[in-house]
Amino acid sequence: MPDRVVGSRAQFLAARAELGADADVGAVLTMGALHEGHDALMRAARKASDVVVATVFVNPAQFGPSEDLARYPRPLAEDLRRCRTAGVDLVWTPTVADVYPSSPQIGIDPGPLGAELEGASRPAHFAGVLLIVAKFLSLLAPRRVYFGEKDYQQLTLVRAMVNDLDLPVDVVAVPTVREADGLARSSRNVYLDPAERAAAPVLAAALQAGQQAAVAGATRKQVVATANAVLATSAHVDVDYLELRGADLGREPGPGPARLLVAARVGRTRLIDNVAVELTA
Ligand code: PAF
Repeated sequence: MPDRVVGSRAQFLAARAELGADADVGAVLTMGALHEGHDALMRAARKASDVVVATVFVNPAQFGPSEDLARYPRPLAEDLRRCRTAGVDLVWTPTVADVYPSSPQIGIDPGPLGAELEGASRPAHFAGVLLIVAKFLSLLAPRRVYFGEKDYQQLTLVRAMVNDLDLPVDVVAVPTVREADGLARSSRNVYLDPAERAAAPVLAAALQAGQQAAVAGATRKQVVATANAVLATSAHVDVDYLELRGADLGREPGPGPARLLVAARVGRTRLIDNVAVELTA
């Protein structure tokens, strides 16, 4: 176990009050089913903070009606072991009623970007994410909060919210952690059957090919075509989008830092991934 695991809202608030308002807290917000990607967030928080607080909460507000809320993996004992190994001091595992004691009247509008990329097929997703992130930032009062680059659109929208609402927290981005064959670590990888698991690294391979094409001086169109050609080699992968955007996810990346993003269904599982791309053309 980490130093302390608390369940109810009252227990959490008491534990947070004991730390003191000025405590140097680093926060890691999770939905559990922790893996090496979360380990990297927790370790980064541990390195920079006096106190590390993590949450484990599967947030219903960010799931659409036909999504995997009910079957989302919830291996709590294993999650707590990982938190301890990473040096987390306090873990909050609230229920839905602890987090949403009353049904929210006020929402956070993720703006136009919230309806693009992931938002195009998951219309209420980012409003649900921003609401829970805002609530946890308010309750945990951390100096720093850690997000993985794997969910790059989420990271971008959280940064925008923190900036637009002047929230007193630093958003720290942590690079994507990958399996040996390139597949980005994700809690949803457990859904993949062996044939799907064997096919899934094509997403990372496509992104890497696009990235390398950019290094070699490819135009935006050529970068996208190169990545698409790699995706087309797999019959198991049903591509939702492959897009080259600005580093801020703007639609017209110029020369300089950009982001290549992909979402695809592999069997019934929807996977996302992205890489940084340096455009010279
Ligand atoms: O990235 C996640 O796991 C979730 O979207 C988050 C940030 C914990 C909010 O529920």
